[in-house]
Amino acid sequence: MCGIVGYIGRRRALPILLGGIKNLEYRGYDSAGFAVVSRRGVESRKAVGRVARLEEKIGDPDRFPGTAGIIHSRWSTHGEVTEANAHPHADCRGRIWLAHNGIIENYKELKRALARTGHTFHSETDTEALAHLIEEFTIRTPGLAIEEAVRLALLSVRGTYGLVVLDRESPDKLVAARNFSPLLIGIGRGEYLVASDASAVLKHTKNVIYLDDGEMAVLTPREHTVWDLRRRPREKPLHEIEWTLEQAQKGGYSHFMLKEIFEQPEAIENALRGRLVPKDGHAQLGGLETVHERLAGAERLIIAACGTAYLAGRVGKYMLEACAGIPVEVDVASEFRYRAPVFRKGDVFLAISQSGETADTLAALREAREKGVPTFGIVNVVGSTIARETDAGIYQHAGPEIGVASTKAFTSQVAILALLALSLGRQRDLSLTQGQEFARDLARIPELMRRTLGVDDEVRRIAAACRDFKNFLFLGRKYNLPVALEGALKLKEVSYVHAEGYGAGEMKHGPIAMIDERFPSVCIAPRDSVYEKMVSNIEEIKARRGPVIAIATEGDQEMGAIADHTIFIPKAAEIFVPLLSVIPLQLFAYYFGVEHGHDVDRPRNLAKSVTVE
Ligand code: AGP
Ligand code: GLU
Repeated sequence: MCGIVGYIGRRRALPILLGGIKNLEYRGYDSAGFAVVSRRGVESRKAVGRVARLEEKIGDPDRFPGTAGIIHSRWSTHGEVTEANAHPHADCRGRIWLAHNGIIENYKELKRALARTGHTFHSETDTEALAHLIEEFTIRTPGLAIEEAVRLALLSVRGTYGLVVLDRESPDKLVAARNFSPLLIGIGRGEYLVASDASAVLKHTKNVIYLDDGEMAVLTPREHTVWDLRRRPREKPLHEIEWTLEQAQKGGYSHFMLKEIFEQPEAIENALRGRLVPKDGHAQLGGLETVHERLAGAERLIIAACGTAYLAGRVGKYMLEACAGIPVEVDVASEFRYRAPVFRKGDVFLAISQSGETADTLAALREAREKGVPTFGIVNVVGSTIARETDAGIYQHAGPEIGVASTKAFTSQVAILALLALSLGRQRDLSLTQGQEFARDLARIPELMRRTLGVDDEVRRIAAACRDFKNFLFLGRKYNLPVALEGALKLKEVSYVHAEGYGAGEMKHGPIAMIDERFPSVCIAPRDSVYEKMVSNIEEIKARRGPVIAIATEGDQEMGAIADHTIFIPKAAEIFVPLLSVIPLQLFAYYFGVEHGHDVDRPRNLAKSVTVE
């Protein structure tokens, strides 16, 4: 999720800021900008694209002599990828400059109130509202310390932030604050850095303190102080970072893929934040406003996507048909665009794509638009081609997914499809109490995912025990059939062994011929409406000496007795089990690939975004 670096000390800030933000490039971003303060006032430059583009604008960094400054790489959430929307953002007078990671959820009401008092805005972002809100407090109380203005402003904010504030009138201060978006402070000799993660400060210091949610810090070249938003001082322990730069970028995980598997609870929280309304039993999908009427009256939803995104769409089909009673057709985009799809009045088209650049999905979208079908997208990368070419859309807010094998993007897409099912369902026959139950069950998922991630060591042991198998069959039913297909895809991608996903009900129609002691089956068998059928399938496999790895519900001793290995996941509403059952399969693929010495972040022959047909 983008990056922030601040510096205050004895040295020129800009070279340190540029070096720091380059070490955060791995996090993914779409634009960048800086601001430094000196006797000449505040000087700032911004650029769309890579940091190298910003450097071209800077030319010689010595032209910017300030010894305090901030720099930001933006992962857009509100407002297109433009120079005007790049950070830092300033107030009306160019006094207060702000770089922000996260989402200011109540920015629209803040902007409306600020505009009424005469503030003028120059960007579409949520962030800029905060810069003007801080300014408003300095206007109301002349001489107010900048840190107090920031504190008062943050008390009026709902949302997530990691932010750093630069004040032209207090050039010897930086103010930092954190709420859900990570922020640390690097402590140097007569200098301080603020950054989104350790990668940006390691070159200068290994001594850091981590801000916690609801905390803010004031930094001068001589000292740092930390408070909470009620002005209570906070003592923060000093940490010494032992990581290398590469380890820091992976947050201490061995690979981005493992880091992103463990980021899933947070990714789902980000997908649901500001959208799920449990008390009213519905979902607010602001991005679909322009197609709201068409969707309400839709008689069929056509989903086209590729790979993992397609499999998320397959889960979405079951959710939408069960909750909203709307017929859903799901197609791999590479087929959709070449067969002669028949469109009907009342059709709505949905493109699902993490990158928003997949050629086949984009071509399928253009085919639907060509035929005059209303279109919308579920996309992770803001401002991507698919996001721009659909009539409307819902951003995943999952943060950048660096590992080529998609993990958090899958569960994030499924969670957004659940929100869509709830929203459409409540416009149709889903009752208030049904909606409230659905929303309550969905809101519990991030916590249940955290519990599910506890199977990590058990899965690593099972993957090692299975390391010599050359073939795998993944079996599931109903909501877990697409998960079985996804588990097989993951294993293929990162370990290069043959793995096939199949509907368990289809096993007797062919695949069972392959089963023997050398051909294991991974069976997703939670306590749900098709549990007994899955038990029968597992018994049939055992009768032919096939090894079985079962994904079962915590407490299911019966399954533990039948299967060779059983991985238990928490009990959850049947419709949301895919968000849990996929995690052991992601971990299994990861550890199996690592067991075989493969580069699981960059598997052979694969690209993160398939922008060619
Ligand atoms: C999934 O692990 C693969 N990386 C691949 O199948 C991917 O899901 C597919 O290429 C679609 O990518 P997109 O979501 O960016 O459109
Ligand atoms: N929500 C802000 C924006 O869209 C910040 C996004 C980020 O974390 O970079 O500009």
